[in-house]
Amino acid sequence: MKEIKAIIRPFKLLEVIDELTKIEGLPGVTVSEIKGFGKSRAKNASDKIIYDMIEFIPRVKLEVVVIDDMADDVVNVIQKYAHTGNTGDGKIFVCEVKEVVKIRTNERGEGAI
Ligand SMILES: Nc1ncnc2c1ncn2[C@@H]1O[C@H](COP(=O)(O)OP(=O)(O)OP(=O)(O)O)[C@@H](O)[C@H]1O
Ligand SMILES: [Mg+2]
Repeated sequence: MKEIKAIIRPFKLLEVIDELTKIEGLPGVTVSEIKGFGKSRAKNASDKIIYDMIEFIPRVKLEVVVIDDMADDVVNVIQKYAHTGNTGDGKIFVCEVKEVVKIRTNERGEGAI
């Protein structure tokens, strides 16, 4: 099982979600509004916000946990539809997931995703 965590531009969210939901069997997505900075900090970003004297850019975080076979499809969709080619497009991180527990049924592992 893999967790795909992606930081993307807020205005790309609807398109990315629209394309992700076309993946057959996509089990779910968590979306959060976040702020952060990358290597280039927020210096030249037109959308920067200043919070406690630190410059951040607003972004959206997506978290998706899927079976291994679905991970590449999820990554490829996010990379394609979140892309503008400009500085600050964000990143996609892929992590191994050791265990999933479905709270309602106490199922474990892939069946719980
Ligand atoms: N290594 C990282 N760890 C955690 N979050 C990151 C990391 N790199 C980028 N981010 C997140 O992604 C957002 C966008 O980063 P950004 O795409 O500007 O990264 P960058 O490395 O500066 O790339 P670019 O050269 O395109 O600007 C940041 O505001 C931050 O929230
Ligand atoms: Mg940057």
